[in-house]
Amino acid sequence: MKQNKSFSQLFFMSLLMLMVYVDARKTNMKKKLHKHPKESHPLPHFDPHPTQLNTFDVMSFGAKGNGVSDDSEAFLAAWKCACKVSGATIKVPAKFNFLIKPITLQGPCMPDLTLQIDGTILAPSEVSSWPKSSLFQWINFKWLQNFTIKGYGTINGQGSNWWTSSELYDIQVKKKTHSKQIPSMKPTAIRFYSSNLIKIIDIKIINSPLCHLKFDNSKGIKVDNITISSPENSPNTDGIHLQNTHDVEIQHSNIGTGDDCVSIQTGCSNIHVHHIKCGPGHGISLGGLGKDKSVACVSDIIVEDISMKNTLYGARIKTWQGGNGMVKNVTFSRIKVYDVMFPIMIDQYYCDKQICKNQTGTVVISGVKFDQISGSYSVQPVHLACSNSIPCTDVDLTDIQLRPSLKYRGYQQAMCWNSYGKSQGQLVPSSIDYCLRSGGGLIKKIAKSHDSVCYKLF
Ligand SMILES: *[C@@H]1O[C@H](CO)[C@@H](O)[C@H](O)[C@H]1NC(C)=O
Ligand SMILES: *[C@@H]1O[C@H](CO)[C@@H](O)[C@H](O)[C@H]1NC(C)=O
Ligand SMILES: *[C@@H]1O[C@H](CO)[C@@H](O)[C@H](O)[C@H]1NC(C)=O
Ligand SMILES: *[C@@H]1O[C@H](CO)[C@@H](O)[C@H](O)[C@H]1NC(C)=O
Repeated sequence: MKQNKSFSQLFFMSLLMLMVYVDARKTNMKKKLHKHPKESHPLPHFDPHPTQLNTFDVMSFGAKGNGVSDDSEAFLAAWKCACKVSGATIKVPAKFNFLIKPITLQGPCMPDLTLQIDGTILAPSEVSSWPKSSLFQWINFKWLQNFTIKGYGTINGQGSNWWTSSELYDIQVKKKTHSKQIPSMKPTAIRFYSSNLIKIIDIKIINSPLCHLKFDNSKGIKVDNITISSPENSPNTDGIHLQNTHDVEIQHSNIGTGDDCVSIQTGCSNIHVHHIKCGPGHGISLGGLGKDKSVACVSDIIVEDISMKNTLYGARIKTWQGGNGMVKNVTFSRIKVYDVMFPIMIDQYYCDKQICKNQTGTVVISGVKFDQISGSYSVQPVHLACSNSIPCTDVDLTDIQLRPSLKYRGYQQAMCWNSYGKSQGQLVPSSIDYCLRSGGGLIKKIAKSHDSVCYKLF
């Protein structure tokens, strides 16, 4: 018995000692951890020659900036690193020319990424140096959130070789002189796809082969104090082109090209364009909408405080025959025109050939205000050609004062076809006053059915 007792005592003693030992080890380990609070990990390091931790100069990534070497890889490398850092800036320094092949700079990136362009970015000037697979655009930004482009630099699309007139090209094709072939698709200079909260500030975009700055499937766009220019004889070179894009403000900018200063296409809503100098070119346009019997929906557009010089059109809506959908709630106001051929225009018979077949069905137009539009025209002051299928309704002409310019050669009468609405305030020429039809209540009901096509779409 006694032996037994001492055995159990020994057992408990050793158990106790073991427990104390284990506990002591634990405290010791804890102490060790407190003594060495952090292991010495290397700091994140992206830029081989960092100026600031979140600044990425393309020169540090191997860009030459001599206008001859291809700097695309350097841009892509700088982008890749900056994209991973919140609040990063990619610098394109002044006094250098960077030749860039067609590239895609894509997100998602960390928020508040900025591309600071103070130098010049050049597209390849030879048509033959564009890969056939990259004819849609030159610099493609996609899937970005909270991204800004700013700076005093220039983005030059060097498009002159693309501007050969299509007639000349057709002749070349017929004669089978393929020496200088221009593909039928031409690249847009800057395109944003599926991006939100984008700002474009101060930069210059010039000489694009086609459109200069395009947004599609995007939301929350601000364009401020930019300059867009290309020569008057550069075909289809829209300034800014919007498609399926919402919540846009374009302001304090100067746009003169061979086509529309601002082109608002299908699927756009809540667009505010103001304080723009526009010309030369085709003015500010909604459309062409409804091509090939397509559904087009555009709503809640304000275009105001614009000056237009030497443009074909001023405030314009154009639709093809045979489409569906609706244009509604559009205001053009405080627009000064100088030598503009057609300052106020709705054309529901838009056609890019000599004759287009008459078709029933139309993109319905309802709720368009032309307000305080004044200055000089050279062909016709007001030209509203609405659809035979469904006329335009709630088209209002208020305070319109348009006088023939020195280049005048046309019709002094305002022309309205199938347009319902009211005219008020000062109206010059006076023919504007009895141009519109009043009423149209029944037509408005029909128009509503087109609106429902758009509700389903948005
Ligand atoms: C975008 O930036 C603004 C300020 O510049 C900030 O308030 C907002 O939270 C950011 N949004 C996202 C999605 O990062
Ligand atoms: C607008 O941009 C131009 C040229 O890019 C610049 O010189 C000017 O300071 C900018 N204006 C404002 C108000 O920022
Ligand atoms: C018309 O569009 C403007 C600008 O987007 C908007 O503020 C206004 O609420 C719209 N009006 C109607 C009746 O929808
Ligand atoms: C289309 O309709 C208009 C107006 O009704 C008419 O003047 C024109 O000749 C027609 N065009 C064709 C190609 O049928």
